[in-house]
This record gives sequence, structure tokens and C-alpha cells, in this order.
Amino acid sequence: MNDTMFFQRDILTSDQFTKAEVGLIIEKARVMRNLVARQGTTDILKGKIMTALFYEPSSRTFGSFIAAMQRLGGGIIPLQGVVYSSVAKGESLPDTVRTFASFSDIIVLRHPTVGASHTAADATDVPVINAGDGPGEHPTQALLDFFTIMDRFGKVDGLTITLVGDLKNGRTVHSLLTLLSLYRPKRVNLVSPSVLPMPAERLQKAKQARIAISETDRLEEVLATTDVLYVTRVQKERFADLDVYERVKHAYVITPETMKHLNKNAILMHPFPRVGEIATEVDSDPRAVYLTRQIPNGMYVRMALLSLILCR
Ligand code: CP
Repeated sequence: MNDTMFFQRDILTSDQFTKAEVGLIIEKARVMRNLVARQGTTDILKGKIMTALFYEPSSRTFGSFIAAMQRLGGGIIPLQGVVYSSVAKGESLPDTVRTFASFSDIIVLRHPTVGASHTAADATDVPVINAGDGPGEHPTQALLDFFTIMDRFGKVDGLTITLVGDLKNGRTVHSLLTLLSLYRPKRVNLVSPSVLPMPAERLQKAKQARIAISETDRLEEVLATTDVLYVTRVQKERFADLDVYERVKHAYVITPETMKHLNKNAILMHPFPRVGEIATEVDSDPRAVYLTRQIPNGMYVRMALLSLILCR
């Protein structure tokens, strides 16, 4: 495994990674974190341009990709929302991608349709990074989540990891479960309302990888044995029936009382945005790492990916 393994490659799904490749990205993210702490910026991507093409709202993914490219010395075409681009006139995704590919060296795409990043990658030779495709995948989030777990525990093997919330529509948990399946966690608990289970094909893949999985709707049963509690938002924008959303939106809310029952050495994660799943009183608990670790790690992981893909 060497640094050129990712040169000019697309990042479309967590399924594409080997354990060695994940290790390389994490190692590179640590280098980037040290670099930012030491000198803030570098110019290794001077002359390179990244288009951030976001058809759906984003704060962290968009902001951290932009910051990552700028800290590496590159330029950006930032399209946050496409209402002022020709997409608003009905332009197709392949035409839009080909257009921006002719101006830039890499395209980061967020899109509401599952598989859109594959469509984009088929339309151009310029590398494409999937920054979230509807209720499909969010592989760069999974990498930063994995980095955060590795930072705290130095391993995934032997840990009990509990994924909570909208496991049906939550792309971050889809991609994270796939990454975890490369390793040997002690157990993965899937905690969701019965209407929002992990999709059967993703569950099947994890089971084929011999991951021990428990499914329950009772969070309290698993708190004491959990090392990583990963909470997700119920994704209102994916519901056809908003009455169903109203019934389940606060199925799990982490409060200081919940934290009393969580293993004292655990960490509490959330990809954000949160809309009530974690009370703000929990933020000062040292086990809460979403603001202090997870979000900053997003930039380091994205710096790692951009440098690996764009530098020979
Ligand atoms: N975690 C995440 O994808 O956040 P944004 O939607 O703000 O990018």
C-alpha cells in the first residue's frame, strides 16, 4: 500500500475500501491534523480546482471540503444549492458534471438520488467523490467516523458499537456499517423504531462478513455494554407520510439521564445536524465527541482524500 493507490480514483461507496486502504486514509488524516496544527496550510494542491456540487443542503460536508481544499492550496468552485446554475433550467446531471469537469480536477457531489455519484462518475474521467446520495451512502462521513473511533480506542475489534435512530434513511450509518464489516467488532447493535430498520441488503452484507448483530427498539437494554453510541437524526425529508415522521421523530433522545446509564468509557457520536436527538446539556459530557472530535476530523479526512486522489 502506498500513497499513489488513490491517485485519480473515485470515492463512491464504503464497499470499495479494503482494510489497508482505510488504514492509509486514517494515517494520512493524522498527518493532515498535525500539518494544520503546525502550519495551518500548505500548497501541495496549488493549481488544482475542486467543484463542490451540492444539490442538497449541507453545512459540515460542504464546509469541510471547501476548507480542506483551501488548506491544501487548491481552488474551489463552490455550488451550494443549484438554483443559480443551469440545473434550474432542467440540465441533466451528466451534462452538469461534464461541464464542471472541464473546469476542475475533482468533483464532490451531494445529490438526493441514490446512485447519483455513480451516474456522475460514468459521465467524466475527473474523479468524483460521493458527498451523500439521498438515503444511499456517505462514505467520507464513514471514514471520519471511523477515524474518530480509532482516535479514542485505537481499534474497532472487540468494541460494541450501537447505531441508533433512522437506520432506514440514514446514509451515514449505511456507510459506517459497511466499514465496520471490514473489522471484528464484538457486536453491532441496531436500535431503531420498527418502521426505520437497517435495509435488509445492508444487514445481509454485514452478517455475511460475520459481524455479530442485534436488532432492537429498546436503547436502554444496550447502553451499559456500548463503547460507541452513534445517534442519527430521523430524516424528515425522506418521509412520504409526515404523520409517520411525527410519530417517530423523537423515538430516541439522549439526555443527561440517558448518559448515566451509558458505559463510563464510551463515546457519544452524531453525524449532525441534530434536531433534538441529543439534548444540548449533554454536550459538556466528556464522552460527547460530536462537536469536539467528529466535526473537526471531517476536514482532516477530506484533506487526506483530496491529497491522495490529486497528488501522484
Ligand atoms: N454529516 C453531514 O453530512 O452533515 P451536513 O449535512 O451538514 O453536511
